Amino acid sequence: MIKKQVTPSILNVPKDQRVEVINNLIDMGIQWFHYDVMDNKFVPNEAISIDEIKSFKSTCKKHLSDAHLMVNDPFKYAHELKDYVTCLTIHYESFEKEEDIVKFVNEFSHTNWVGIAIKPSTDFNKIQPILYLFDLVLIMSVEPGFGGQQFIEKTYNKLKEIKNFINEEKLPTVIQIDGGINDLNSKKLFEHGSLFNVVGSYLINNLNKETLKKLQ
Ligand code: DX5
Ligand code: ZN
Repeated sequence: MIKKQVTPSILNVPKDQRVEVINNLIDMGIQWFHYDVMDNKFVPNEAISIDEIKSFKSTCKKHLSDAHLMVNDPFKYAHELKDYVTCLTIHYESFEKEEDIVKFVNEFSHTNWVGIAIKPSTDFNKIQPILYLFDLVLIMSVEPGFGGQQFIEKTYNKLKEIKNFINEEKLPTVIQIDGGINDLNSKKLFEHGSLFNVVGSYLINNLNKETLKKLQ
């Protein structure tokens, strides 16, 4: 059984400090990191590059991770990253045809966990019929693209809806929430069924064991 945990996002850590921050967090007990990958097309920003993620394998202590692919061509990025991350998470909105989502799962699920992310404006019913294909569902609680945004309160309803469905259908899919998480909402999200809380700015701006304790 996987325990509820904070999966830090290092998006807002300056590039030259990322290795040190990851290693410090591992020393504080973090086991799983969330790597934001952007192509400046799906979202108007760039994040952690493929080469940087690859380099973490030798520069950082051993850890698990998910690559949050905010890109128009997830296949290309997934091929590059599959040997370097635990979970490859695609956005539902990156695909025009559902059959390509199924193709993605078929291609990568024998080597990796595969996750599906939805934007705040995308209803759960869009992915409900295909949720059983995924190891993880990533509920965006901010508009993807930037760290440091405010948590969207409507996320709780979506979380409850998805958690109920997972319980009813007895799916093994785990829930991850991403965006605007801090000491005030983290506990409530865990209580409502989140397994992985992605925390970026709040953790990075107060990087110590106390902060981690408050989030867990
Ligand atoms: C936003 C990213 C998030 C972000 C989280 O597009 O997907 O992972 O970095 O950072 P905070 O916690 O600052 O919202
Ligand atoms: Zn993210």
